[in-house]
Amino acid sequence: MSGSRLTIQKLGPMGDGIHEEGRTRIYVDRTAPGDLIEAQVSKDKDGILRGEVAKLLEPSRFRQEAPCPYYDRCGNCTLQHLTPAFYRNWKSQMVRDAFQKQGLRPRQWLEPVYLGRQRRRRVTFTALKRRNQILLGYYRRRSDQITDIDACLIAEPKILDLRNAIKPFLSAALKDGKSVDIFLQVVGQAVDVVVTGPVVKEALVQLREVPGITRLSWQASEKESIQEVFAKGSVVAAFGTLKVPLPPGAFLQPTQEGEETLVNAVISALPTKGKFADLFSGCGTFSGPMLKLGSVDAFESLPAAVSTLSKAAAAKPLKVFRRDLFRRPLRRDEINRYDAVVFDPPRAGCAAQAEELASSKTRTLVGVSCNPATFARDARILCDGGYWLQSLQLVDQFLWSHHVEVVGVFTRQKRKSP
Ligand SMILES: C[S@@+](CC[C@H](N)C(=O)[O-])C[C@H]1O[C@@H](n2cnc3c(N)ncnc32)[C@H](O)[C@@H]1O
Repeated sequence: MSGSRLTIQKLGPMGDGIHEEGRTRIYVDRTAPGDLIEAQVSKDKDGILRGEVAKLLEPSRFRQEAPCPYYDRCGNCTLQHLTPAFYRNWKSQMVRDAFQKQGLRPRQWLEPVYLGRQRRRRVTFTALKRRNQILLGYYRRRSDQITDIDACLIAEPKILDLRNAIKPFLSAALKDGKSVDIFLQVVGQAVDVVVTGPVVKEALVQLREVPGITRLSWQASEKESIQEVFAKGSVVAAFGTLKVPLPPGAFLQPTQEGEETLVNAVISALPTKGKFADLFSGCGTFSGPMLKLGSVDAFESLPAAVSTLSKAAAAKPLKVFRRDLFRRPLRRDEINRYDAVVFDPPRAGCAAQAEELASSKTRTLVGVSCNPATFARDARILCDGGYWLQSLQLVDQFLWSHHVEVVGVFTRQKRKSP
């Protein structure tokens, strides 16, 4: 379809504008409800109708000029063209809708937290050498083209400084026509770098000269093991009083402030004393601070995270267990040993674990999730088992994307939740 006139009625879950007419649904990137546009419409490989804005005929009142000069060409941010008020309201409504769909309403909505610009401490750039030119930036949306950027409004400034310092070294390290991913993570004063893809390994060593890099590792692909190329110091995260030397590319919450907000939300929901479990513990983001309230058993499937957290746990009341909680969720009798359980699963959620939690007697459960839909599904399981959803809090540490973090507190009651 060429030159279709479309009115955008709402945003979909990935933040695309939606034009609906009868049973036809057309998704259009970077539009806002109320936009009247002329669009080129085509079917993508999944059979979804997608429109490209050819002309903005009447702009929505929810539009603003995108603050980033790369916004039209870079696929990293998708919601910069929305006014801050609309953007925040949309995110909060997305969480409310997910829970409403499951017939759930918390007793209390806690004040949402929206983090601002330049807070991301972990970023993955893509680098490509083409005819001796280096592109280093982000993919365009739904494209294999890379936009070379030398500014980014979401990343910590230190990351951009490093990106600019690394770029001149890539010419020798990259192979023509082959792209690599370059992951940078700021951990306190240290910076951890992981390069993934085909490189000239000897040339990678020269990146040692870049002052800000603490450690650089390489892997041939995401499935291959990570090899350290050099380390000028250690990369240590502080979770409460627990100091954890991180393995290369370790998972951390995407922003320091977001981590602090989530930790505060978790700690304030727990009893002030007791025995706790931290499920999907990663390297100990919550386990560490929970130690000030009592003893903690941490459960995690990733070997590198389990091993590093185990070493850090020496002389602390912290035990670490390697366990696949999808295949072998903590059983009801095991859960009953704890005064409270914290769970922070990956995006898929943890339905099987939620079933076991739902049948337990443990008084307090605290869930943290980056996927409101699976979190609401799991919350339904808990509430069907007799837990009350006491509170929900939105923590937006993914500025200008459709992602959002949510913390939910559940308490066991005699009567079932509605
Ligand atoms: C969202 S991260 C949270 C990590 C940690 N709580 C934090 O905030 O840093 C989810 C964690 O679940 C772990 N995980 C994924 N699948 C798992 C499984 N089947 N069993 C146990 N842990 C798993 C991942 O390795 C990751 O560490």
